[in-house]
Amino acid sequence: MTDSPDSTTGPATGPTAGSGTGATAPAGPPATAPDLTKTGAAVGEPAPAGSGAPTAFLEVRDLKVHFPTDDGIVKSVDGLSFTLEKGRTLGIVGESGSGKSVTSLAVMGLHRASRQQRAKVDMSGEIWLDGKELVGADPDEVRRLRGREMAMIFQDPLSALHPYYTVGNQIVEAYRVHHDVDKKTARKRAVEMLDRVGIPQPDKRVDDHPHQFSGGMRQRAMIAMALVNNPELLIADEPTTALDVTVQAQILDLIRDLQKEFGSAVIIITHDLGVVAELADQLLVMYGGRCIERGPADKVFYEPQHPYTWGLLGSMPRIDREQTERLIPVKGSPPSLINVPGGCAFNPRCPYADLPKDNVTRTVRPELREAGGGGHVAACHLAQEERERIWTEEIAPKL
Ligand SMILES: Nc1ncnc2c1ncn2[C@@H]1O[C@H](COP(=O)(O)OP(=O)(O)OP(=O)(O)O)[C@@H](O)[C@H]1O
Ligand code: SF4
Ligand SMILES: [Mg+2]
Repeated sequence: MTDSPDSTTGPATGPTAGSGTGATAPAGPPATAPDLTKTGAAVGEPAPAGSGAPTAFLEVRDLKVHFPTDDGIVKSVDGLSFTLEKGRTLGIVGESGSGKSVTSLAVMGLHRASRQQRAKVDMSGEIWLDGKELVGADPDEVRRLRGREMAMIFQDPLSALHPYYTVGNQIVEAYRVHHDVDKKTARKRAVEMLDRVGIPQPDKRVDDHPHQFSGGMRQRAMIAMALVNNPELLIADEPTTALDVTVQAQILDLIRDLQKEFGSAVIIITHDLGVVAELADQLLVMYGGRCIERGPADKVFYEPQHPYTWGLLGSMPRIDREQTERLIPVKGSPPSLINVPGGCAFNPRCPYADLPKDNVTRTVRPELREAGGGGHVAACHLAQEERERIWTEEIAPKL
């Protein structure tokens, strides 16, 4: 294969990630509750852009990724901020088209990897990775970080694995981009990684082409390729979308084990709150390119503060519930990112839009504000007491 530095992260043109509606077959609800003993509760509040280097390992500040098109400017990400420490997992959830993949590609520098791509995107804000700012950095410098310091598992493994080269050769090349070793040493490392991610007979399967692997094995191979250089940040964008429920659970376990082993910071992106509720320390809920709720995973999961999050929880499949029983589905469709509704972008779909006074939900965009303590924030005009009342009396009893 060509010795492209981007071979470690999939095609530089970006994957098809984001195009799939990928209605995830549920990996199962949190039939078992998230582990509340996790110590991931402390979140650094992201600082405003322009306030200098942060102490957090990853800090995204006021990130905007806009695509000028013939129909208008698509504001795919419009002012997103979060922080993430090493050894921690952030879950990003939201419906299709909420800007999850665009965010992850932005962190990986893949919207600006080529001159052609740079011409089509308008990016601002700051992405600090281990003390380095990436939005304003030279794309060559960011490319050097890909694979070595940060790697990504894509929604569709076939978009990241080249059909003409053996799986082993692709892992070997990904390793040799960042390590000055001979092919034999790199091959040994590739076999080790395939073994580590649970590919049977790795010394033989290393010579298979991607099409000879099952969907679950391809996903594992992509994880092996992403982890071969021990990246400090791993972004898994819908890592289980195409897989059946049993394999989904295995892949999620694998990511969790590997994170413990390598101590990386992990971002897991999914439609499905159930998938991340158990895995993540922090949850960030996206709607229309913005964060509408963020906080410790147990807080967001058990005491959600935003009506959209209530809707996501209500439409979450549960094994102890009839399939047909969807209690509080989110009605309507996600907003256009060209003409985002004024005020709160969720207002056309929100059952509580008329509760705040003076039509404020349709005229004033709610900013994220403290909701429930412990770094838990939500962007909603409802008064805290009102939210708590609705959650306790109307929503929680039905979940
Ligand atoms: N290069 C681009 N040019 C124009 N619009 C784009 C581009 N890339 C993404 N978008 C738009 O940005 C929005 C957010 O896309 P994104 O892929 O981030 O969604 P997502 O949350 O990952 O959805 P899914 O869950 O379906 O993967 C979508 O409306 C998408 O059409
Ligand atoms: S601000 Fe208004 S429309 Fe938006 S979520 Fe809160 S109540 Fe609903
Ligand atoms: Mg996506």
